[in-house]
Amino acid sequence: MSVLLTGIGELVTNDPDRGAPAAPGESAPGSSAGRDLGIVREAAVVVDHGAVVWAGPAAGAPAADEVRDVGGRAVVPGFVDSHAHLVFAGDRAVEFEARMTGRPYTAGGIRTTVAATRAASDDELRGNARRLVAEMRRQGTTTVEIKSGYGLDVEQEARSLRIAHELTPETTFLGAHVVPPDTDPAAYVDLVVGEMLDACAPHARWVDVFCERGAFDADAARRVLRAGAAAGLMPRVHANQLGHGPGIEVACEVGAASADHCTFASDADLRNLADSGVVATLLPSIEFSTRQPYPDARRFLDAGVTVAIATDCNPGSGFSSSMPFALALAVREMRMSPAEALWAATAGGAAALRRDDVGWLGVGSRADLAVLDAPSYLHLAYRPGVPLVAETMVAGSWA
Ligand code: NIG
Ligand code: FE
Repeated sequence: MSVLLTGIGELVTNDPDRGAPAAPGESAPGSSAGRDLGIVREAAVVVDHGAVVWAGPAAGAPAADEVRDVGGRAVVPGFVDSHAHLVFAGDRAVEFEARMTGRPYTAGGIRTTVAATRAASDDELRGNARRLVAEMRRQGTTTVEIKSGYGLDVEQEARSLRIAHELTPETTFLGAHVVPPDTDPAAYVDLVVGEMLDACAPHARWVDVFCERGAFDADAARRVLRAGAAAGLMPRVHANQLGHGPGIEVACEVGAASADHCTFASDADLRNLADSGVVATLLPSIEFSTRQPYPDARRFLDAGVTVAIATDCNPGSGFSSSMPFALALAVREMRMSPAEALWAATAGGAAALRRDDVGWLGVGSRADLAVLDAPSYLHLAYRPGVPLVAETMVAGSWA
C-alpha cells in the first residue's frame, strides 16, 4: 500500500541531484554554511513497500492509497548512528560522577561492564539493547550499528553478536576491545583472530579494534583487522580517542570504512584519511561525557575528509543515545555548520557503513525518516535538548 506524506514544510533529501540551496543564505557546497542538503520546500514523499518511490514539490505529487499531512513540519532522513555499544549489563554512573569531579576516563572501566555482561542472562541483555534501540528510534535514528566487546571470550562475544543481530544487520565484532583480566595480551590476540573470530564472523558484518594505549597496539590492531577481513568482515577502528597514536594510520592502511573518535588527529592523519577515503566518525557525546577536548571538525572538513557523527552510546565513556544531542554538540563545539552536522549524522553515517540505501531521501532510498516538531532542520541544533522528533519512519513503517 502506498502512502503520500504531504504538507512537509522543509524536506531534507541529501540528494545532490536536487542542487537546491541548503537554506536561505546557505548555497554553495564547501561554503562556510557547508553541505548542500538538497532541500525541497512545500514537499511531499510517496512511500511504497518500504522505499521512497517519489519525492518533490507537493504540488506535483502523484496519488497514493493513503494520505498523511504533516502540517508544515520539517522532514529529514532518519539518523544513521554508525557507532554504538548496546549489548551490555550494569551501570557505571558512579564512574561518570568520578570523572565529573576530576578523574580522567581510562579504558580500564570496560572491565566493570564485562563482569556485569557475563553475569547477565540472554533476556536481560536482549531487553537492555531493545530498550536502547527504542530510545534511539524515538530520537529519529533509523539505522544503528551495534558492537560486541563486553564479553571478551568466545561464547560471550558470539552471544553478544547474536543478540545484536536480532536488532540490526550492522553488527561489529569487537573482541579486541580490551584484554580481559588475568589474560596474557599476546595469547588473547591469538584467541581473537582464531577461535573467537570463527564463532563471531557468522553474526557480524564488521570487525573493529580499540587501538589505543591500554588496549591494543598497532601490530595487534593490524592482525585483528586483517584476520577479520580474511573472514569476510569489513574493518573499522576505534582510533586516537585518548591520545595521538597509530589508530588512524592503521585504519587507512587496512582500508577501513571508518576511523572512529579521532579526538587527536595530526595534519598527516587528516591527509591520510582524505587520501584513503576512510570516513572520520566523530563522537562528540564522548568528549562531553569525559571532559576531553572536542576534535575540531573544521580541520577534517577543510582537509577534504568525509565526516560522520555518531553517538557511541555505551555505559562507560558516554551514555547518550541521542543523535540530535550529538548533532547539536558538533555544531556548538566542533565548528560544523548545522547543514554539515545534519549531513554527517545521516549521509555521513551511511558512508561510514558503506550503505547507499539510507542517509538520503529520494527514489530508491529506504523510507527512513524523521518528522520534526519544527519548521526546519536548523532547530535540531538551535533547540538543543528539546525532543523535536515527532515521529520516526523505518522502512515505511512508523516506529
Ligand atoms: O567507544 N573506546 C572504547 N570503547 C568505548 C568505551 C567503552 C566503555 O568505556 O565501556 C568507546 O568510548
Ligand atoms: Fe566506541
